[in-house]
Parts: sequence; C-alpha cells; structure tokens
Amino acid sequence: MPFSNAIYKMNSKCTTQSEDDRYVFTAEWYDPNAALQRRYQLIFYPKDGSVEMYDLKNHRVFLRRTKYEELRKEDLYVGNKINVFSRLLHIVDYGDQFTARKVGSKKEKTLAMIKPDAVAKLGSIIEAILDTGFIITKAKMVLLSRKEAMDFYSEHQSKSFFSDLIGFMTSGPIVALEVIGDDAVASWRKLLGPTNSCTARSESPGSIRARFGSDGTKNAAHGSDSIASAARPGSIELFDAPSHTNKSELEFFFPSSGGRGPKNTARFTDCTCCIIKPHAVSEGLTGKILNEILSAGFDITAMQMFTMEKANAEEFYEIYKGVVAEYNEMVAELCSGPCVALEICQTDAPQRLREFCGPADPEIARHLRPKTLRAHLGKTKVKNAVHCTDLPDDAVLEVQYFFKILDS
Ligand code: RTP
Ligand code: MG
Repeated sequence: MPFSNAIYKMNSKCTTQSEDDRYVFTAEWYDPNAALQRRYQLIFYPKDGSVEMYDLKNHRVFLRRTKYEELRKEDLYVGNKINVFSRLLHIVDYGDQFTARKVGSKKEKTLAMIKPDAVAKLGSIIEAILDTGFIITKAKMVLLSRKEAMDFYSEHQSKSFFSDLIGFMTSGPIVALEVIGDDAVASWRKLLGPTNSCTARSESPGSIRARFGSDGTKNAAHGSDSIASAARPGSIELFDAPSHTNKSELEFFFPSSGGRGPKNTARFTDCTCCIIKPHAVSEGLTGKILNEILSAGFDITAMQMFTMEKANAEEFYEIYKGVVAEYNEMVAELCSGPCVALEICQTDAPQRLREFCGPADPEIARHLRPKTLRAHLGKTKVKNAVHCTDLPDDAVLEVQYFFKILDS
C-alpha cells in the first residue's frame, strides 16, 4: 500500500476513535534551495497543541509529533498561510472529511470594503471586524478610477443614485479586505447593518454603518451580497460565479492570476515606513495599532498586507545584518505570517514616527517612554509590535520595497 494511502487509512481509523483529537490538512512549502514546491500532510492535535508532518512525495515522516504552541486552531483553514518551525506553509486542502466538515463547512470568504468616508476610522472598523471573530487575510488601500468604480458597481448603473455613488466612491482612498469566517457573507452584512446609516442607527445601533456612516450613500463600508458563489476556501473554484458576486468582487481587488487589480496609493514622498509585525497581526492588534497611529495625527497614505518569503525579509533587514544581534530572529519574525505595511506621511515623518513608536526594546520603552506604542503593545525586542524606519534616508526606500517591489 502506498504510504500516503496508509496515512489516509490511519487517519480514518483514528477519526472514529477520537474524532475531536486531530485535524488533517494538505500543505505546500516552497523550498528555495531545491526550487521545489513540497507537499506535506499536516496533522494538528488541538488537545496539546502538537503538530506532525509527512512528506507526501517521499513518503516519510518529516516532523515527528511535536508541541508547537504558536500554532492556533483558528489559523488552520484552506487558503491560509501558517508558519511551522520557520517554514511558511500554504494550506491547500483538507486531509480528511472530518476536518473538512469541522473546519471548512461553514467557512466563507467575502469582500469587506471600507468606503472613502470611513477610512479615517480604519482602526476602529478593523477592530470591530476582528472582535466579531473574522480573520483578515488580504488588505489593500486603493483609489478607484471612475472606470473601476463603474465596473465594480455596474449592477447599479441604471439606478438614480449611480452618479452620486460613483462620485462618492472615487472621492478618496478605500480599503479592500478579504475576510474569512463562519458564514462570512451573511455575518459581515449583519455587522454592516442596513444600507442607510440613519436607518441603521435606529434599527441596529451597534452596526458599522450606524457607528461610522452618515446617510444613504455615505455609509462607511460595503459587503458582498451574494452567496451564490459562496466563496468557501478550497471550494471556491467549484462554483460558477455570476458577474457580480463575492467571488468576482474579491477577484476585482485581489486577482489570483494575471492582472494586478487597482493599484496601491503609496506616494513615495514626505513619508516613512511602518510595518505591523506578524506576531501583532496574529494577536489581533492591527486595529488597535492603526487607531493609535491615526489618533496621534499621522496620515496613513498606503496600506497593504504582505506575506514575506525569508529571502525578502533578509533583504529588507539587510542594513541590520552584523549590526543588530537579533538580526536572524527579526528575519524569522517578519516572515512568520502576514504583516501589514503602511506608508505614513507627515512633516519629519521618519523621526516623528520613531518617537511615537518608542525604543526598540519594549521593556526599556515601558520604563523610559511609557506612552509609546511599543511600551503599550510590544512583547520583546523582536516581537515589538511594529517596525519603523530608523534613518530618514531609508524611509522612501523602505516604502518602495513594499509598495513597488513586493506589490509587483
Ligand atoms: P453595498 O453594495 O455598498 O454593500 O451596499 P448595499 O448592498 O447595502 O446597497 P446597494 O443597494 O447594493 O447599494 C450600493 C450602494 O449605493 C449607495 N446607495 N445610495 N442614495 C440612495 O438612495 C442610495 N442607495 C444606495 C450606497 O452607498 C449603497 O451602499
Ligand atoms: Mg450591494
């Protein structure tokens, strides 16, 4: 019997014995040394947070069952990228029916979009999204052209409000987000509230539109309204999506192949670079950090979520190599999961953002500069919530690294 079949049999057997004991996935890892895409069976044991891996091609145990506390059950679903002992794994499939049923059956993807009137409230809206239990897997700030806005809202072209809607949607940057969660299409619409913000305030006062919108047009945010294409991770390709659906809306902003979607809003001038580090993103601190930055009066002029390869993290941190003792750990942290890159504009942006972030070591920050961001949210010198550009001369280069090089 081929080894992979043996594993399958073993899984089925174990599944009946203690069904809630293990989750099985197929995961891929790009091995840069061999220039090969390697495929593994990944087994997670939620009871003790341990993980086990089999190399599916070479039919051998790759990682014996080992405790790995940084891996959370919530992060295990098809489409996500996770870090297991410094390997960035892409979960591509469920490994057995039990896992597909337990983890995958209710998971959907949808497009959440923050409209121009609410981008200043970006932090609070992202906090509300995360507090509701959604996971944000893609994010990009863009400024829609008239043509893009008309394409996106083409279903409304014959409506009386179309021209106002297009004027509004092109009046400033928007932030497109891919969110994943149980019944995400319907639950995000529920969190949004009624279309008209005034109605929302009377009917659903805690909703996003009630809290952050103004009227029937300026209503803070958008959500895909179709479950016809029910974008369940892993099964998305099985559905034949009509033209205006959550699948095509996600494709509009985050094309999976070919085109690049609307371009980012980076200006590359009078700016500095801030990266919300992967540990902070996975701890759910993105909204809080954005809030602190915005409340301090900084302008966030570009924002995008990236998942970095090790080679990119090394290149980005090159100036610290041989200078900072934690260089290797910094690289490992930066490519341990998705991070959020920001372009921040302001007079003397690099210096002012550095002062706002505080000393690199959060312990020192808590003693010397207790009001700084790292004093509030940092854990260690490596997991210190954010990176910000050190030298003013590097600021534009760092912004370019993310928004020109990695975004291409
Ligand atoms: P969305 O597509 O933006 O999530 O909003 P929705 O489904 O709740 O509402 P929909 O009927 O699809 O309308 C799309 C957007 O057009 C603007 N609108 N203005 N002034 C008006 O009567 C009016 N009606 C709709 C809103 O921005 C609405 O979200
Ligand atoms: Mg709609």
